[in-house]
Amino acid sequence: MKLCMIGAGYVGLVSGACFSDLGNSVICVDSNLKKINDLKNGIIPIYEPGLEELVKKNYKVGRIKFTNDLKHAVISSDIIFICVGTPTKRNSFQADLSQIYKVTKDIRKHIKKFKIIITKSTVPITTGDKIEKIILEKKARKLFAVVSNPEFLREGEAIRDFMYPDRIIIGTNNKKANNLLKNLYDPIIKRGRKYLNTSRRGAELIKYASNAFLATKISYINEISNLCEKTGVDIEDVSIGMGLDQRIGSRFLRAGPGYGGSCFPKDTRALIGTAEKYNTSLSIVKSTIKSNDQRQKILFNRVKKILKNKINNKKITFLGVTFKANTDDMRESLSLKLIPKLHKLGGKISYYDPSGKKECFEKYKNVHFFNKISLACEKSDLIILHTEWNEFKNLNFKKLIKKKNFIIYDLRNVYSHKKMISNKINYYGIGV
Ligand code: UGA
Repeated sequence: MKLCMIGAGYVGLVSGACFSDLGNSVICVDSNLKKINDLKNGIIPIYEPGLEELVKKNYKVGRIKFTNDLKHAVISSDIIFICVGTPTKRNSFQADLSQIYKVTKDIRKHIKKFKIIITKSTVPITTGDKIEKIILEKKARKLFAVVSNPEFLREGEAIRDFMYPDRIIIGTNNKKANNLLKNLYDPIIKRGRKYLNTSRRGAELIKYASNAFLATKISYINEISNLCEKTGVDIEDVSIGMGLDQRIGSRFLRAGPGYGGSCFPKDTRALIGTAEKYNTSLSIVKSTIKSNDQRQKILFNRVKKILKNKINNKKITFLGVTFKANTDDMRESLSLKLIPKLHKLGGKISYYDPSGKKECFEKYKNVHFFNKISLACEKSDLIILHTEWNEFKNLNFKKLIKKKNFIIYDLRNVYSHKKMISNKINYYGIGV
């Protein structure tokens, strides 16, 4: 099938590369000419395991193309995926849909024969209705169908999540569109993956409700971990014990630094924004947001307590600064809050992250990037294991730090508390 992805960002690029690998002809459109030229030269703008290989392989055989010519892309495609950003509006809980409506108008100009126009970006309920209304102002209803097909990709696992999703959600009551999309997804459905056709508004809400639920699950276990710390219970026992109940499930029950990234914080806020518009209380999601905000303060206070309030001149090393492993994404990462606060109190911060140096820390005099774990850790007073990259999972801290009386604060519970204590390492984890 002939597809076009409008927006060659995270969602558009990963989905485009995967669709092309499934044998479709894909054009990725982006207004950023540098990005397009880079992509043509095999330079991938984001860090996502496996993506570079997939893009290069399919570009070589001409199944994926990159352009800033939206007109040509729309005219030559049957299915158009809108994959532009939907950030939170400034000082508000509403999603900013300006990019969605702009590209809708751009697409509208070039609709001459039947097109399926799909929102893959996360968009609030009724966005599809509005897109349809905008197109109907100039084009006949029979020329197009507007469908919601939310994506559930996780950064760092995006290709596997695309190829082996738990479910494919198609929100439309247009039979022709539904049949075509079932064909498009057939290679994935054949792997035993679920395909669910719902109303368009239903699909839009499934995405937000899922992300907000997962965020709530994380905040819940994080709050339970606070109780564990006060009562001498190990949170790992609790997560495993709860997760064995199939009604609860074990995934997303890992206590840690709180959820970050480009999705959960933005989507929980936007869901509240939508609920308020319809005079509905989503008090649970509001509490989740509040709980996640408080998490930063709780962990900062714990760091201060661990260092007995003596931060000045202490060497503090961050292992990992991204919001999670296998991504270079810093958005809403706890390190963005913790590092400046510790720096302000006179801490000398060093950090290492497999995804490299971060521009956001360059303005701080005493925050330094090291390109080796050993250099970052040498003579440290406190190591904060912030992100669960694989290369942090088997470290010999005594050898690395070369100093007595160092402390480890493991925000991901990568190490066993018991083992660390029996090795006479001053170790703190989450919920222990
Ligand atoms: C999330 C969803 O998992 C995807 O299904 C969705 O498609 C995506 O948002 C999106 O809306 O685009 P992502 O933000 O990439 O994906 O990352 P997750 O793996 O879900 O992690 C989100 C945050 O929760 C991270 O900060 C992570 O460290 C934290 N987390 C996750 C925990 O603290 N504990 C857990 O058990 C799981």
